[in-house]
Amino acid sequence: MSDIKRYPVKENIGLTTLVNNDQYEAMYKRSIDDSEGFWAEQGKRIDWIEPFTQVRDISFDEHKVNINWYKDGTLNASANCLDRHLATRGDQTAIIWEGDEPTDDRHISYKELHGEVCQFANALKTQGVRKGDVVCIYMPMVPQAVVAMLACARIGAIHSVVFGGFSPDALAGRIDDSQVKVVITADEGVRGGKTVPLKENVDEALTHPSVNTVEKVIVVKRTGANIDWHRSRDIWYHDAIAKESKHCQPAEMRAEDPLFILYTSGSTGKPKGVVHTTGGYMVYASLTHEYVFDYQEGEVYWCTADVGWITGHTYLVYGPLANGATSLMCEGLPNYPNINRVSQVVDKHGVNILYTAPTAIRALMAEGDAAVTETKRHSLRVLGTVGEPINPEAWEWYYRTIGEERCPIVDTWWQTETGGIMITPLPGATTLKPGSATRPFFGVQPALVDAEGNIVEGVGEGNLVILDSWPGQSRTLYGDHERFMQTYFSTYAGMYFTGDGARRDEDGYYWITGRVDDVLNVSGHRMGTAEIESALVAHPKVAEAAVVGYPHDIKGQGIYVYVTLNKGELSADKEVNDALVLELKKWVRQDIGPIATPDLIQLTSGLPKTRSGKIMRRILRKIAENECGALGDTSTLADPAVVDELIEQRVNR
Ligand code: PRX
Repeated sequence: MSDIKRYPVKENIGLTTLVNNDQYEAMYKRSIDDSEGFWAEQGKRIDWIEPFTQVRDISFDEHKVNINWYKDGTLNASANCLDRHLATRGDQTAIIWEGDEPTDDRHISYKELHGEVCQFANALKTQGVRKGDVVCIYMPMVPQAVVAMLACARIGAIHSVVFGGFSPDALAGRIDDSQVKVVITADEGVRGGKTVPLKENVDEALTHPSVNTVEKVIVVKRTGANIDWHRSRDIWYHDAIAKESKHCQPAEMRAEDPLFILYTSGSTGKPKGVVHTTGGYMVYASLTHEYVFDYQEGEVYWCTADVGWITGHTYLVYGPLANGATSLMCEGLPNYPNINRVSQVVDKHGVNILYTAPTAIRALMAEGDAAVTETKRHSLRVLGTVGEPINPEAWEWYYRTIGEERCPIVDTWWQTETGGIMITPLPGATTLKPGSATRPFFGVQPALVDAEGNIVEGVGEGNLVILDSWPGQSRTLYGDHERFMQTYFSTYAGMYFTGDGARRDEDGYYWITGRVDDVLNVSGHRMGTAEIESALVAHPKVAEAAVVGYPHDIKGQGIYVYVTLNKGELSADKEVNDALVLELKKWVRQDIGPIATPDLIQLTSGLPKTRSGKIMRRILRKIAENECGALGDTSTLADPAVVDELIEQRVNR
């Protein structure tokens, strides 16, 4: 560990929320020793309609997990993001929208956003949406996506944002699972100069026999493309709001009323509808946004994530808006139309804080200094990363080239289920080590557990668990509390299991080593191997499929697929097999979405199995990683010859 570089805190990062590490240590200690007192105080950072008197009521008992924060308080999340800023910063920009083309942008003040949200909230009511109804948002990165989320929050409807890159089938599954009443979409999305047929995808999703709860589809006109229209069901967004008032009383919600559902991949096939509730989530979003990014009044903050992911929810919408920040929302890609787009946007809008993903950093880094040509980036003060482990080379490049060795990097570890950042440096307080997410945030008690379930003390490695609740934690899986308890609390009784492995060094710093379950992290996106496998076996020629990850320079992990075909389908002709490989890639892409497209597919006559028929993924992973000399114990294989063939015909070399 001694060759690990350290970057001590710099004096010159500008304004700091925390003065030094001693202050962090003291505040952290207090947050653990007096959880109740600490969170009671922090709870006051948001506006309550009826103030809470109870702070926490938690059970991590694996059979009756029950998580409550600020239980008897009432509030409205949209009022916390909008109304409470009107008096002091109504004319300040809430959202800077930067279009796909650099010539396209828009500033929306808090006052304007408030008006639009109220109008659309009223429109939703007119369309029959009531408190507790689920509204699906399947949108491109346009301001109306944020308006839609906040409008749902305003009337107490639960939003379920589905990433615009998901296929009609994936969308249908998510609509069906939560009995969505209204879908909000756009005619088309635009990214990197290409269009995405969102409305067409919705139309197709709604033809699925299982989908029968959707009453209305509200459509934002983004490109003006020709789209099919279902008169009794479809309504234009601009028509829906035309006659609505710009005033809408925010609904009084209980702290534990659901704010949103967000689907994420797990280690079994069906995506999980992670539920976040209102009070604790808002407190945690706002607190972490302020401390982790050292956010200061009036700063321009840019989170590059899509609103379809948790990062977009917490750190593009709820956290920054609760804090009255100017949040930049970018429709396009980091390298379109030029590789220096990110840097250009930073200069154009004077961005102070930039939060992005290692995969984007690596894609820019691959082009060398071209990513920063003709730009100054003097406004930048803090840089952040999230979504996957950042390799030290990418960290160093980000630090030197984008941040000119001036800006601390916050490598933030967290998950859809955690609601907000859990392990992270605090700028101005934490000495940085490239590749380490460093120390736990206030109130977060991480621990490492070994194979026997014992807690590892001091320096060591193990599975990462969290010992006690924090306000941003997910409360349940939509409609399936059993699965929630089973997935997160049964592996190690009484602890929240993250699904990640980690190492802790001599300074108590955490180094996340990646998932320990059958979940891949492709370009910072979580993909369940089981989901891809079930898509593949639905193909008429496929008998069995096994999906594993392998190291990929840009994406972090690539998707490697082993496929066995039905009898007679494996051809002696290479061209026929190659065509089938292409067809299978397209098949998965259509079934789930482009992010799930396999990088490498190996057609094989068999898979390595134990005598009881279990696929030995460990071996498949090694072969995919091209580490065929280190297969480990193969003595339990039913047919060792299969492995020779797999090695011989491996496609990653
Ligand atoms: O494996 C961890 C990885 O991303 C997973 C969570 O994915 P998701 O729920 O999609 O949320 C992503 C954005 C919060 C984690 O289980 N991960 C996330 N951040 C980091 C990370 N791995 C290493 N370092 C990080 N900073």
